[in-house]
Amino acid sequence: MKKVIIICLTALNLNVFAQTQLAIPDTLVGPSYTLNMHEDSVQFFPTGNISHTFGFNQYQYLGPTLIFNKGTNVNITVNNQIGDTTTVHWHGIHLPSKWDGGPHTPILPSASWNPQFTVMDNAATYWYHPHPEMKTAEQAIKGAAGLIIVRDPIEAALTLPRKYGVDDFPLVVQCQQYDSSNQAMPLGMQDSTLLVNGARANYGGNSVYGNFPAQVVRMRILNASGERAFNFGFTGNKQFYQIASDGGLLDNPYLTTRVRLAPGERAEILLDLTGMNGQTLYLMSYASEFSMGIQGGPTMPMPGGPSMDSPLNGIDFNIMQINVVPQTLNPVTTIPTTLTTNSPYTAGMANVTRTIRFTADSLMVMDGPFYFNDSTFNMMRIDYQIPLNNIEIWKLVNETMVAHPFHIHDVQFFVIDRNGNPPGPEESGRKDVVFIPPGDSVMFITKFEDFADTIIPFMYHCHILMHEDDGMMGQFVVIPSTVGITEIDSENDALVVYPNPATEKIHFKIKDVSTIKQLSIVVYDQTGRLIFQSVINTSDSSIDVSHWSKGFYTANIYDGQRIIHKKIIIQ
Ligand code: C2O
Ligand code: CU
Ligand code: CU
Repeated sequence: MKKVIIICLTALNLNVFAQTQLAIPDTLVGPSYTLNMHEDSVQFFPTGNISHTFGFNQYQYLGPTLIFNKGTNVNITVNNQIGDTTTVHWHGIHLPSKWDGGPHTPILPSASWNPQFTVMDNAATYWYHPHPEMKTAEQAIKGAAGLIIVRDPIEAALTLPRKYGVDDFPLVVQCQQYDSSNQAMPLGMQDSTLLVNGARANYGGNSVYGNFPAQVVRMRILNASGERAFNFGFTGNKQFYQIASDGGLLDNPYLTTRVRLAPGERAEILLDLTGMNGQTLYLMSYASEFSMGIQGGPTMPMPGGPSMDSPLNGIDFNIMQINVVPQTLNPVTTIPTTLTTNSPYTAGMANVTRTIRFTADSLMVMDGPFYFNDSTFNMMRIDYQIPLNNIEIWKLVNETMVAHPFHIHDVQFFVIDRNGNPPGPEESGRKDVVFIPPGDSVMFITKFEDFADTIIPFMYHCHILMHEDDGMMGQFVVIPSTVGITEIDSENDALVVYPNPATEKIHFKIKDVSTIKQLSIVVYDQTGRLIFQSVINTSDSSIDVSHWSKGFYTANIYDGQRIIHKKIIIQ
């Protein structure tokens, strides 16, 4: 009993007075993953109330890091234990819209959802977070987020630090606003509470510290804030190399002293600490260098406007202390000269250019609502129908007085133009978020490939979560093109499913039985759980459903050329 009390007091002391060691979230390696999203609480503040939080699995706040290997099939079970409708979105990952976790695929309270997909993305740092209609900010800032690390053979062949938590450090950086009863506020313009991997980083002289070995270390930085942008750098203007942007490696390591990350953006950097054993440095945000209009930069004087006075605005502040400790065994001490070869599409390959203007009711608007092309998000309106395999240029023009990080689902893109100039090295790799300060105009190019679904759209939106929830969002469907695989909805008579409703057996009768010999059938229940998967011969095409529970199911039937969707009812 005595022992227990001592441990508690020590833990409390550490929490309130001393420094907090950087927490490294556990990894989950798959191919099957379970994420239990639950309500929890954290004593973030030395006095006053606990803060109500959301966490995944064993965590009170944030969640484990998912490791995905490119080319493998993964299967994730998300259990919703937060007492509210949610979704989980795999930010940056290219997958079918029904598994994307956007607002059209809600997970009801106490329900489960079971997305399964092939990992097609390049090695980089991605993340997951909720995305329910109008509640993304509220749920994400309570802590429902985690990292995804994709590994692939190209990255694996490079001499890079990749010992997770040893020389390869995940850093989820957030700045949040808490109300007088210590609860996270979805409005973040006076955000002043910094969190690094879920630990408070700036109170009472406290800070988060990491023990980093005296060799080349890698940091995977995610800005998971609702609003604030960071201008990351190190004390003494120590140089570092950016090696990856949101969705993959850059062609070459880019030597720099700053990396600017807006909400949703990630960067991987290499910091060479060789020969620095025993020294201390700080990861900083040099926000004094931001221009007005960038969230976290100098506050724009706006008489009568909303207060944006966070004490962190427009100043340089430290985020994390780095204590350099002895080298590990087999340290990485060199920086590769080349990393990969990105081959962006060229402007001449584009089928279409779409222009999206960022707008507001007036130029005085600082806190929203903001719009795309003057219209607010509408769940019932599809903004664009994009033919499968289209290569498109999207031109984003910011006509407001504040910056917006634009994010699109389904694809990674390449920035091809910023204000008439080619992109800098830091944004010449694969991206899924691009930050657009007031007055800027950016063009990116991308291809909408692999996944068509005429029903469930993908989202694009501002990743300032409050702007997103306020309607700065749109949606598109990717529609089957005439070449390649086409998708046919249930009204088509190419395939008959009978009896439907069924009790014992279901038959699949294909019209074209002379040329199509086999059908691949995948059936999901209403929560998205995989119920049945098999290849059957068209000559004997029935499946036994006598043990299936009553209800509605969706069958995706692939005949070699087409995917046909059918609703099935079991009585
Ligand atoms: Cu990170 Cu649509 O979101
Ligand atoms: Cu996303
Ligand atoms: Cu915005």
